[in-house]
Amino acid sequence: MSERRHEISLLVNGIPHKLEVPGRRLLSDALRHDLGLTGTHVGCEHGVCGACTVLVGGVPMRACLLLAVSMDGESITTVEGLAAPDGTLSPVQQAFRDCHGLQCGFCTPGFLTTITAGLQDTPAPSQEQAREMIGGNLCRCTGYQNIVASVLRAAELTAERTAEHTAERTAAGELG
Ligand code: FES
Ligand code: FES
Repeated sequence: MSERRHEISLLVNGIPHKLEVPGRRLLSDALRHDLGLTGTHVGCEHGVCGACTVLVGGVPMRACLLLAVSMDGESITTVEGLAAPDGTLSPVQQAFRDCHGLQCGFCTPGFLTTITAGLQDTPAPSQEQAREMIGGNLCRCTGYQNIVASVLRAAELTAERTAEHTAERTAAGELG
């Protein structure tokens, strides 16, 4: 007997998708295998390592612990959705590049999504807050020092870009 499939709609990185998935399909598998978005990595499949972290409505969640059917109608951002449409790296991506925040890169997508959300809540983190922000993600390579430096650098870059954007809009007469 064939397995019953369910139709769901997902908005992934701003693009609408309709999928037919079995009830037991994990979100991580739906993203990787059904949509081809293999930037979401799967390590432990038990919610421990954080490699599979994506943003659901802006909130970081473990894609390996979510059933795709439970995501019907949700807006999801994967690591592929962090850069601007013209390819400009997001502040967090740029900071990882600047500060050598990765080695093998397996854990990196989960760190990038987690930190992107973390900086929304804590835009100017202390060293300790930066460590807390990444406390739920595991990296086997870097010893975390460069990742912490990347968090702090990403906060600076975000502030710089916001200031530039505000100055441009002011010059264009859009503000005040
Ligand atoms: S693969 Fe999801 S937390 Fe490790
Ligand atoms: S860079 Fe290799 S696991 Fe983190």
